Amino acid sequence: MSLTSFSFPTRTLYGTGALSELPAALAKLGVRRPLVVTDGGLVKTPAFAQLAAVLGTAEQGRSWFVFDGVHPNPIEEDVRQAAAALRDHPCDGVIAIGGGSPLDAGKAARLLVRRPGYDLAKFYDESDWSGLLPLVAIPTTAGTGSEVGRSSVITLDATHRKAVLFHPEMLAKLVLLDPALTVGLPPHLTAATGADALTHCIESFTCPSFHPMCDGIALEGIRLIFEALPKAYRNGQDLEARGHMLVAAAMGAVAFQKDLGVVHSLAHPLSSICGMHHGLANALCLVASMRFCSARRPGLYRRVGQAAGLGVVSLSDAEADRVTIAFVESFLKDLGLDKKLSQCGVKPEHLDALVAQAWDDPCHRTNAVPVTATDLRALYLAVL
Ligand SMILES: NC(=O)c1ccc[n+]([C@@H]2O[C@H](COP(=O)([O-])OP(=O)(O)OC[C@H]3O[C@@H](n4cnc5c(N)ncnc54)[C@H](O)[C@@H]3O)[C@@H](O)[C@H]2O)c1
Ligand SMILES: [Fe+2]
Repeated sequence: MSLTSFSFPTRTLYGTGALSELPAALAKLGVRRPLVVTDGGLVKTPAFAQLAAVLGTAEQGRSWFVFDGVHPNPIEEDVRQAAAALRDHPCDGVIAIGGGSPLDAGKAARLLVRRPGYDLAKFYDESDWSGLLPLVAIPTTAGTGSEVGRSSVITLDATHRKAVLFHPEMLAKLVLLDPALTVGLPPHLTAATGADALTHCIESFTCPSFHPMCDGIALEGIRLIFEALPKAYRNGQDLEARGHMLVAAAMGAVAFQKDLGVVHSLAHPLSSICGMHHGLANALCLVASMRFCSARRPGLYRRVGQAAGLGVVSLSDAEADRVTIAFVESFLKDLGLDKKLSQCGVKPEHLDALVAQAWDDPCHRTNAVPVTATDLRALYLAVL
């Protein structure tokens, strides 16, 4: 029997008002001069104003700095600039606040403080990433779960592809899940980020490696998302739904330490080549990918259907999947996520490059069923 390692180590504070615990948490971590890493959109939101109020002013004797230059789908330059800000001020910790993009850039910036000038394309040549600055992660979207993950997804200069920089040392010391910070997220981003969380849960549950703890978390995440996402989409002020989505997104990321699948391999190039939002890219590829997997392994989605509360227990394998996939399709449609790729700027001439990058992406190697480059092309064509 091969050995498997399980770990769920991030300390997480959940609930409306969790943000107010930040000063005490920073003091406990010994952080006196934090750098806030975020993006240009978030600094204009009430969520950022709440953070600024909690951190206080120079007149109150507080020192903190902001780097707000992170791009959506962050690039290596974002990481270099955030690291330069950390060194210049100099700061003794990072508060990453925002969606997955600033969280990933803030997490990774610490690598270049530890090793200035390091080429991130050689990340895996180095095994000792100990001694990183402490990180507090505060998500303001409910999707990526990056706050509880050990990785940053950064588009590298060398390859122009999304690379996953994974190391246990990258974990946040503390995660604050405060639903009040997500109430201003507009419906289309609420939907797309929520679809990312749903994809994490479905792909991790159905990928074949042995991890019953992640499986349980993924199924409960699926249940929460089916219940809460339509509510958060229709009424952004619904704090309970917003809170459940934040927890479900974190659960999705805990679950996908098990693995991901073909949907993420299709989605990553749609962002790096066509600039598409990550959650939207997943949403548009999810149903076709579920049909593809189900055709090769009927019954794969029965328990996903059960988590959705569907009466699929006594159906045949094929019928249980058909009912479940139809439910997911209609669920996404009701969230406005029923577009074709061509409606989002993807052109037939992108296809060869998309397939080549998707084939190189590692996620499909852990998919529920084997995937070929021909399958990837057929899947893109099915949703083009
Ligand atoms: N590290 C991981 O484990 C992991 C997992 C999945 C995805 N990702 C990465 O995360 C990135 C996507 O993150 P995302 O989907 O959260 O999007 P994002 O971080 O790119 O944010 C999208 C937009 O939402 C805005 N926004 C964020 N919070 C807001 C709020 N409360 N109110 C108003 N506007 C707000 C931002 O300003 C931005 O314009 C991608 O780069 C993806 O590859 C990482
Ligand atoms: Fe994702």
